[in-house]
Amino acid sequence: MSHAHHLLKLLLLLLAVLAGSQPHGAVAAKFEVKDVTNKTCTIVELLMNFSIKYETVEEKEKLIFFPIPEDAVVSGNSTCGKGSSESSLLVVTFGTGHSVSFSFSRNSSVYYAEKLGVAYNLGDKHIFPDARRNDVSFSSESTGINAQVNTTYVCMTAQEIQMANATVVISAARIEAYVPGSDYSKEETVCEADKTTSTTTVPTTVTPTQPPTPKDPVSIKYNVTSSNGTCLLAQMGLQLNLTYITKYNKTGVEIINIDSNATASGFCESTSVGLSLKSERTSLWLFFSMDTAAQRGSVLHKVRQVVTLRGALNVTNTSLNYLQATLGKSFKCSSKQILQVSPVFALDVFKAQVQAFTVQNGKFGEAEECLLDQNNMLIPIIVGAALAGLVLIVLIAYLIGRKRSHAGYQTI
Ligand SMILES: *[C@@H]1O[C@H](CO)[C@@H](O)[C@H](O)[C@H]1NC(C)=O
Ligand SMILES: *[C@@H]1O[C@H](CO)[C@@H](O)[C@H](O)[C@H]1NC(C)=O
Ligand SMILES: *[C@@H]1O[C@H](CO)[C@@H](O)[C@H](O)[C@H]1NC(C)=O
Ligand SMILES: *[C@@H]1O[C@H](CO)[C@@H](O)[C@H](O)[C@H]1NC(C)=O
Ligand SMILES: *[C@@H]1O[C@H](CO)[C@@H](O)[C@H](O)[C@H]1NC(C)=O
Ligand SMILES: *[C@@H]1O[C@H](CO)[C@@H](O)[C@H](O)[C@H]1NC(C)=O
Ligand SMILES: *[C@@H]1O[C@H](CO)[C@@H](O)[C@H](O)[C@H]1NC(C)=O
Repeated sequence: MSHAHHLLKLLLLLLAVLAGSQPHGAVAAKFEVKDVTNKTCTIVELLMNFSIKYETVEEKEKLIFFPIPEDAVVSGNSTCGKGSSESSLLVVTFGTGHSVSFSFSRNSSVYYAEKLGVAYNLGDKHIFPDARRNDVSFSSESTGINAQVNTTYVCMTAQEIQMANATVVISAARIEAYVPGSDYSKEETVCEADKTTSTTTVPTTVTPTQPPTPKDPVSIKYNVTSSNGTCLLAQMGLQLNLTYITKYNKTGVEIINIDSNATASGFCESTSVGLSLKSERTSLWLFFSMDTAAQRGSVLHKVRQVVTLRGALNVTNTSLNYLQATLGKSFKCSSKQILQVSPVFALDVFKAQVQAFTVQNGKFGEAEECLLDQNNMLIPIIVGAALAGLVLIVLIAYLIGRKRSHAGYQTI
């Protein structure tokens, strides 16, 4: 666009951190059980946290948290079981007399981790320095972990297993019992919590699941106002489209709408303006700036967000050029715009009107329609013109026809 006027352009900068359920730096511990012939029957790889309630010497209840330590090893009490229906057992011991166990059972098509057991030694002064008792307590509970035989159970989402005095949190789990080969089976059974689709029974082997398309975001009015007046006025619906790769090379899409619960704040400076939208799961920053060098009022738009999801993503883009408008006027677009920030992140903008820097009396200036809207307007105009032409042709044909029939009467 070669406007002689000053143009407002938009640059988007994204800094997205997808805080995972996996604590940074933590590596899933892997445990393997082999039978007498040295053939693997059970493989369990997961992150595990314990929270345990115990009574202190002062007769108070205390709750402590700890992850499964690195010294955890498979105990000799683990077994593969005999015959296809026999239960197998994985026992992992750690520290001073603590252990966690999974007991597996199967039928012809499904295997389950029937029970998860935790034994903790209150006599361990490292973990329970002030415990009243010093014996070993044991709790067990059913797990809900089940998968098709000959498939790997995969569950990245954290699952809580609550027992009387202990809660075990499992995440980033890859589990297979009754392993047919020497390693995990290729086919996977993905746990319900990992499936973003809320539909009913899906086939248990994994196919990339498409999340349901959420409703369009509500259009919300934002403003950033300083003592010098309003420097940003916007009315828009915002939707984040994030593509992420899980640890196991699966692609997922997460669509997040920015709703009215987001807390808006921002700042006004002479050549840059910022709008921050914070909500429970996301923190989004939009920075607009004026391009003085090019003698254009340009708008720098920086997006920074934090989303609680299953991996980590960090994107920065300073070379975007969206939402252009002349200074003093507003950018307007009723059509949905997809602002691609990076290959894995798009900011979708709905029903937008945006004006930065010079906002008179807290009202939008003259609107400059986006190209998408202009194109949408063009179609009805063309159709309208075509219809008008058609009506005209029919009318002329009718008039000519009438004249002819009059002439016909006269000859008879
Ligand atoms: C496990 O505990 C660590 C440290 O307290 C925490 O950062 C992490 O989020 C916990 N993980 C789960 C799955 O609860
Ligand atoms: C699982 O795999 C084993 C070995 O390949 C095979 O014998 C068995 O029939 C399979 N079971 C199921 C339920 O697919
Ligand atoms: C989200 O982005 C992906 C990849 O660019 C695209 O295939 C998908 O249609 C988008 N979804 C929505 C709801 O915009
Ligand atoms: C994921 O893909 C990368 C690159 O293609 C590969 O190196 C890695 O081994 C894969 N990881 C898994 C768990 O399949
Ligand atoms: C805003 O938060 C409240 C309380 O958490 C919730 O009830 C309401 O549904 C939320 N509104 C939207 C639009 O998400
Ligand atoms: C920034 O966005 C532009 C336009 O979508 C794109 O061409 C460019 O590759 C992006 N840069 C980065 C670093 O993602
Ligand atoms: C800006 O937002 C505040 C808080 O929502 C509101 O009180 C004020 O009227 C708004 N100003 C303009 C110019 O829209």
